[in-house]
Amino acid sequence: MNIVVIGAGTMGQGIAQTLAMYDNKVFLIDNNENQKQTAFQNIQNSVQKFVKKGQLTESQGMQTILNINIATPLEQLTHASVELVIEAVFENLEVKKDIFIKLSQLFNDATILATNTSSISISKVAENIPAPDRIIGMHFMNPVPLMKLVEIITTKHTSEKTLQKIVLLTEQLQKCPCVVKDFPGFIANRILMPMLNEAFLSLQQGIATIETIDTICKLGFGHPMGPLQLADFIGLDICCNILNIMAQDFNEPKYKPATILTNLVANGHLGKKTNLGFYNYSISTNKLIPNEAIYHGL
Ligand code: CAA
Repeated sequence: MNIVVIGAGTMGQGIAQTLAMYDNKVFLIDNNENQKQTAFQNIQNSVQKFVKKGQLTESQGMQTILNINIATPLEQLTHASVELVIEAVFENLEVKKDIFIKLSQLFNDATILATNTSSISISKVAENIPAPDRIIGMHFMNPVPLMKLVEIITTKHTSEKTLQKIVLLTEQLQKCPCVVKDFPGFIANRILMPMLNEAFLSLQQGIATIETIDTICKLGFGHPMGPLQLADFIGLDICCNILNIMAQDFNEPKYKPATILTNLVANGHLGKKTNLGFYNYSISTNKLIPNEAIYHGL
């Protein structure tokens, strides 16, 4: 399948890599040339890990890289028999809406338009787009090449044909499609984000330390990462944004992000990507070191 992925950030690069690993031709689009180069480098590193572990052969690894095109501008792709576009830019409704309008002008009604939004209403993103039967949500989990879930979100207009094609593609990627309705936070983040927020509030209320909260969830529930480490991994700005969207769309104050989270974000501490969040990643990459400044009000 020829597939366009819009946005070469963490999610876009993971989605592009996964599609390419399963023989799809991927066109990765981003306005920022440096971001595209970084994405391509990250994809190569990740593919190398799969090859090293014997999960891909050398030639499958090479083919994966060859399947990814970062050079062709979006405007030149309209005649490239693109069957699917997956939008994976940052979580901003207006930006996503503009991209969908542009996509609907460039591609004909047969091209499925999907968004990887983690919480914004799919119906709002695709408002007034012609042929709404080909609009769908494909919510991949981070790190995309490793995580088995794709949350598939249908609107009241999504056709059975569109759904079946996306379910089939997800299965071809060796992932599990879980179909849900278009509702704030869908299912994954509706369950995950309040849990993370309770961890932030527990820390804020001084009930336990950073490490204790994470250890309780890791050992108590068998989670691979504790909630504070996971929030750092996802990005604290992203967690804050999703909670705000849920608080607004449900009109429920219980989703309001904890002050400890909003303070970290306001200070530019966004988790692993800035080397500082609930943990301090600038000291060691192997061992988790708590960010002590949190105990002193930052
Ligand atoms: N590509 C290829 N291999 C990778 C990789 C990547 N991008 N990232 C990690 N790996 C490999 C590592 O090299 C490592 O390989 P070895 O075992 O051979 O050394 C292996 O995966 C395990 O990695 P680590 O040892 O670094 O760490 P880990 O055992 O903790 O596993 C993890 C990492 C898979 C991320 C695991 O910690 C995990 O599952 N964490 C939870 C992730 C999660 O919950 N994701 C969902 C977030 S929510 C979301 O995405 C939705 C949203 O909208 C916010």
